Amino acid sequence: MNKRLFLSTSAVAVSVLCAGAALAAEPFKIGLILPMTGQQASTGRQIEAAARLYMAQNGDTVAGRKVELIVKDDTSVPDVTKRIAQELVVNDKVNVLAGFGITPSALATAPIATQSKTPQVVMAAATSSITQASPYIVRTSFTLPQASVSMADWAPKNGIKKVVTLVSDYGPGIDAEKFFKDRFMFNGGTVVESLRVPLRNPDFAPFLQKVRDAKPDGLFVFVPSGAGAAVMKQFLERGMDKAGIKLIGTGDITDDDQLNDMGDGAIGVVTSHHYSASHDSAANKKFVEAFQKANKGMRPNFMAVGGYDGMRVIYEALKTTKGQGGGDALLAAMKGQLFESPRGPMFIDAQTRDVVQNIYLRKVEKVNGQLYNQEFDVIKDVKDPGKTR
Ligand code: PHB
Repeated sequence: MNKRLFLSTSAVAVSVLCAGAALAAEPFKIGLILPMTGQQASTGRQIEAAARLYMAQNGDTVAGRKVELIVKDDTSVPDVTKRIAQELVVNDKVNVLAGFGITPSALATAPIATQSKTPQVVMAAATSSITQASPYIVRTSFTLPQASVSMADWAPKNGIKKVVTLVSDYGPGIDAEKFFKDRFMFNGGTVVESLRVPLRNPDFAPFLQKVRDAKPDGLFVFVPSGAGAAVMKQFLERGMDKAGIKLIGTGDITDDDQLNDMGDGAIGVVTSHHYSASHDSAANKKFVEAFQKANKGMRPNFMAVGGYDGMRVIYEALKTTKGQGGGDALLAAMKGQLFESPRGPMFIDAQTRDVVQNIYLRKVEKVNGQLYNQEFDVIKDVKDPGKTR
């Protein structure tokens, strides 16, 4: 081989090697968009803490790629979420979009996920239709129909036959109202009134007065995570429990982030949900302990679990694609994942890209001086009843 040919061949070899190394060194970016301030700030705090815990426990290098988490505050304003998502895709070239504290934020981002072929992992928002807004959406939280239907089966068998519903007036509240009502009426119950309160700065007082006047057996409530304590306070202040009205709802109202500060008046409230911090499993005990240790004793709520499992879904997809991480390949590797979450068994349905999971009936009880949602019954492997296919 002449010297010049040798030199140029080795130069090519070196540059190929360098390109390979540069590719391998390129970080894998996860754009985590959350409400870190404003009304939904507890959701942001919980999910960020959970995502960081997952990374601390599982390392920040996956299949040879360094994983970089870019956290952005959307203040739970959907236009802001959309702008941030656009910037993350175009400027930061993120591989995955994740987070989404409320439904309007998840929906505002869906067209960006579709156009850029970027997987969008919804860790919090829970309106049934979200997964249909883009084929790139995968959900690791829950759906309101999933949680509400189980309560509509439990209540009439337990003496609650006449109900008023009270929900936040937007996607998840409307889902909760519809799916609770249809099933409750099918089970022979009566819904005497359906009230909707605004999402922003709600004043529950006039609505609760109406409920008192209607004298139902029960009040079914959905309000988003973070708003439950205000409803509980006003419910108790008005003596509605003493007037014989049972407070029931999805577990958003007895949110583990706030439950322990709600006072003994919360004892006995029955809700249906996919996660309780007191879920009795080795995996959950380990999760709760590690989460509290890393976050000055903060108790993880259902938002934290959505974030923790969302990170797992992303990590496993990156492993399956051997660190390559193209949008379509990642998405394919997210579909069908089946694993044990701190909440119990969980499955990402490959057809709907939505979560299939157990729904538990829980009652607020005092355990070792602290208030917890104690699970007493389970409906296994619940698919989102809101999906027609
Ligand atoms: C939503 O906006 O989809 C949402 C937010 C908080 C919840 C549940 C659903 O607790």
